[in-house]
Amino acid sequence: MLPEVLLVSAPGKVILHGEHAVVHGKVALAVALNLRTFLRLQPHSDGKVALNLPNIGVMRTWDVARLQVLDTSFLEQGDVTPPTPEQVEKLKEVAGIPEDCAAPEHLSVLAFLYLYLAICQKQRWMEEDLELINKWAFQGERVIHGNPSGVDNAISTWGGALRYQQGKISSLKRPPVLQILLTNTKVPRSTKALVASVRNRLIKFPEIMAPLLTSIDAISVECERVLGEMVAAPAPEQYLVLEELIDMNQHHLNALGVGHAALDRLCQVTMAHGLHSKLTGAGGGGCGITLLKPGLERPEVEATKQALSSCGFDCWETSIGAPGVSVHSATSLDGHVWQALDGL
Ligand code: PMV
Repeated sequence: MLPEVLLVSAPGKVILHGEHAVVHGKVALAVALNLRTFLRLQPHSDGKVALNLPNIGVMRTWDVARLQVLDTSFLEQGDVTPPTPEQVEKLKEVAGIPEDCAAPEHLSVLAFLYLYLAICQKQRWMEEDLELINKWAFQGERVIHGNPSGVDNAISTWGGALRYQQGKISSLKRPPVLQILLTNTKVPRSTKALVASVRNRLIKFPEIMAPLLTSIDAISVECERVLGEMVAAPAPEQYLVLEELIDMNQHHLNALGVGHAALDRLCQVTMAHGLHSKLTGAGGGGCGITLLKPGLERPEVEATKQALSSCGFDCWETSIGAPGVSVHSATSLDGHVWQALDGL
């Protein structure tokens, strides 16, 4: 008998402070969002494996038998292993992806194939072992952008709010429930290329760039301190400090060369409503976060969201500190999630 449908979800995440600096050994603060990605794993008896990622228009099907011819090199490895360049090339062939293609939808197919071959075939992925999930998610990140710091997979696995430095993770005990806007400028960018451009700038101007990274590190540390204080002894001034940290970091990230006109626009639009924003993640486009301080009137929030949408951006209102990767029973899921999954 085929096993039942398995429903899994993982939180969206943002880096509050420390993107790019974390690649160079500095502190990053990352938080899980109450915006989740749901995955429905459904067994089939037709000998095929299908991948459907509706949000980015990916719909692919493979014969399991055809994949099995390929997978011996993966199955022989006992533990979590980084993808070798040869394996990635082989996967590109199977997936019919051009060699030099870096489009996110193609990279996501590659990451899926790599993890499918390495994990699902071993029947190990059902284990509730967050360490293992985190390690494999890191390898998926490697397929996508080569040399990731590990902060993204860690926050999506563990959830909550994390301090991350050189593989060392500590959870913020009780992160305050901050409301934010997450805005997608829809400007495509390559994390790999942006990380490489920061590295090149660091090599070219070490005396200028190193202090910037040190300053970003200090911003992350100060933010962590304030977040702790906000729970222990909340005071309205703490939001002003968070806003100042956001502004300073955004200027630093521009100086690292990972800004973009669309992100400047995002910051200007929210500033016109008295709100402070910064890019989150690799920059060069992509997403920004805006802090929503308590006491904001609903019409003001709606007007800001409307202004961002008028720029052609997608905007979500959410809160930080969501649970990490989770398995759901069918009965515990919200009706709207079911509806969305059924519509696929
Ligand atoms: O935009 P994302 O989710 O790819 O985040 C990248 C964060 C960086 O610090 C720029 C890279 C990394 O591996 O930490």
